[in-house]
Amino acid sequence: MTGRRRPTSIVMRALAGETLARPPLWLMRQAGRYLPEYRELRRGARDFLDLCFSPKRAAEATLQPIRRFGLDAAILFSDILVVPWALGRKVEYREGEGPVVETVRERAAVESLPHDGVTMRLAPVYETVQRVTAMLPAGTALIGFAGAPWTVATYMVEGGSSRDFAATKRWSLRDPEGFGVLIGRLVTATIDHLSAQIEAGADAVQLFDSWAGVLDENSFRRWVIEPTKRITAALAERHPDVPIIGFPRGAGLMYRAYVDETGITAIGLDSMVPRDVAQRTLQCSVPVQGNLDPFVLLVGSALQSEVEAILASFGGGPFVFNLGHGVLPDTPIDHVAQLVELVRRGP
Ligand code: CP3
Repeated sequence: MTGRRRPTSIVMRALAGETLARPPLWLMRQAGRYLPEYRELRRGARDFLDLCFSPKRAAEATLQPIRRFGLDAAILFSDILVVPWALGRKVEYREGEGPVVETVRERAAVESLPHDGVTMRLAPVYETVQRVTAMLPAGTALIGFAGAPWTVATYMVEGGSSRDFAATKRWSLRDPEGFGVLIGRLVTATIDHLSAQIEAGADAVQLFDSWAGVLDENSFRRWVIEPTKRITAALAERHPDVPIIGFPRGAGLMYRAYVDETGITAIGLDSMVPRDVAQRTLQCSVPVQGNLDPFVLLVGSALQSEVEAILASFGGGPFVFNLGHGVLPDTPIDHVAQLVELVRRGP
């Protein structure tokens, strides 16, 4: 089982460092509730995890935005919380409440997590990758993904989404070694999970570190940069040609250290990053991806001027057009179609 390569995909060319006349385009959370066909598919599943673990339906969810908009990359339909689930924690998605995860709050609980079997339990995800690979139009890349260890740990420690990450910060500061065991387990599981996606056919992978921005400098180095470095080193050894996009959302002034020190291939920019700074200090080192504010897409009135500004900032170097975070569920489909049109038309 070897991964199919799509050298013709313009996403892969941009991630390899090429500057293109028209940048490739895909959107974080391009599959999901803003699409009526997704809502229909979701109604047919028992719950969200059931959808993630039904290869046929998950492949369909992956392909829906490709059919509708002809985006340049598909992103595997799954979730970052399948990893804690594969580590034996209960994970539930409650309507209007977000995810609920069985908590892990001390070292003894971490040590009781299973040491292997993650990729066995996640086999349906890799079957989805294989199915999508067989069905994608030529020239459309498939992006696999995982949550980065820090972000996944916050869900495991908090038991779900959080406003202040108090329990995770307390544990990581009071008992960094014990918390480090959890991070270490997530590093290993993430390496295995991403490798299996690549072996099933993913062309590139993205690490979502959605909550990287809440850490002080020392903690950022220890819980964001170090684990990411271990993941990229292991993947580079197993799959040297597969690009890794790092997305340390909210990293602010730490973006530069993240790019310099983690070994990622390309950097995902959130919408808060000033584009002139990112262009001067990051795009000179690695291809950049981003960073339209999802609310600009949702509201629509500033869409054209923002797209033009983004193309003007990043169009002169290796660049993948994306949002700065995921598509919001209330986003009108027409706005997404307009965005695709604007990016295709170019500056
Ligand atoms: O289209 C895609 O981007 C591919 C699939 C994908 C999902 N989640 C599907 C999903 C991806 C890449 C993710 C990543 C993810 N999941 C992140 C990182 C990106 C980010 O948003 O910061 C995080 C933090 C999660 C955890 C998660 N999953 C939360 C907090 C929630 C509840 C909030 C919400 O948006 O519903 C989910 C559920 C989820 N993941 C849905 C989808 C389509 C909605 C579930 C439903 O259909 O009810």
